[in-house]
Amino acid sequence: DKGEYKHYMLKEIYEQPRVVHAAMEGRLGAERVLEEAFGVTAPAIFDQVRQVQIVACGTSYHAGLIAKYWIEDLAGIPCMVEVASEFRYRKVVLPKGTLFISISQSGETADTLAALREVRDRILASLTICNVPGSSLVRESDLCLMTNAGPEIGVASTKAFTTQLVALLMTTLVLGRRHELTPETEARIVADLKTLPGLLEQVLGLDSAIEKMAEAFAEKQHALFLGRGTLNPVAMEGALKLKEISYIHAEAYAAGELKHGPLALVDKDMPVVTVAPRNEMLDKLKANLQEVRARGGELFVFAGSRQEVQPEEGVQVLELPPMPGILEPIVYTLPLQLLSYHVAVLKGTDVDQPRNLAKSVTVE
Ligand code: F6R
Repeated sequence: DKGEYKHYMLKEIYEQPRVVHAAMEGRLGAERVLEEAFGVTAPAIFDQVRQVQIVACGTSYHAGLIAKYWIEDLAGIPCMVEVASEFRYRKVVLPKGTLFISISQSGETADTLAALREVRDRILASLTICNVPGSSLVRESDLCLMTNAGPEIGVASTKAFTTQLVALLMTTLVLGRRHELTPETEARIVADLKTLPGLLEQVLGLDSAIEKMAEAFAEKQHALFLGRGTLNPVAMEGALKLKEISYIHAEAYAAGELKHGPLALVDKDMPVVTVAPRNEMLDKLKANLQEVRARGGELFVFAGSRQEVQPEEGVQVLELPPMPGILEPIVYTLPLQLLSYHVAVLKGTDVDQPRNLAKSVTVE
């Protein structure tokens, strides 16, 4: 039931403060992640992990790309990420001690499931981050961590993604404590995670400003999304959301790649969306923004502070609340979901059932 909401997608976007809480509930102690949440056999398996291979499709793949930054940065464990449709059909070299992580809302995506079946005999163990209890991936994986987002009806994935990120961050912590992660850092991140529902609630308060911003996109044919670091996959996810529900051609680039090609596309008809929290990448990102402005590109910046990125002619800035850096990719996803939602509503497309797409891709 959509209740007061016009579309399931909007309802599911607004459920995120509650469901990210559900994704953590019973899994966080005062200072650490409770690893029993992964199953009774999990601790002995985690002890032996030397590298991680993540496989997923679409939005779930973007969650995996963010997890790679976390796993390598915080845990110091090598991590590979690949879309399932490529992974399953090539010869993949898997070093000893590989934990295979599949990420899937439905647990039924044909390529992801086939990838698991293909590697089963060559891995240390399999873990699935999944939203549907009893699904094929849950039944066939050694370990599972349910995302607890509740049924997702809108074809465009929203709450499944943010809860996957919570689950992946908890996974990073249980792996990391066996490697480079100190108890102090773990305790800090656990405390940070507990502030997430409140932060998401605050960002939902920007909805009407984002709705206004959406007007600039309704007549456009193309859009570029830029980000750096963990915000690069967030930009990819923002572009995917825009193309799938509003049918506007959108592409994401790591901001540093701009001058290696895509800058040639930038003119007044190419809006550029940037996710730019205040972090160590911001100075570099600001130089990229200048390059876009100099070519007449209209800029839409989701920023950590207006002091850092000034609104001016052709530059709209939406300020997000201050937040721990680790939560940025989760929190900055929401305004991009809302942006594509409002663009689609303005264009009059079928938001919950985009043309040509199915919720669960159970065939290749
Ligand atoms: C995008 C979207 C798809 C799915 C992809 C994987 O909004 O919903 O890209 O993310 O089909 O589906 P799951 O996560 O069910 O394996």
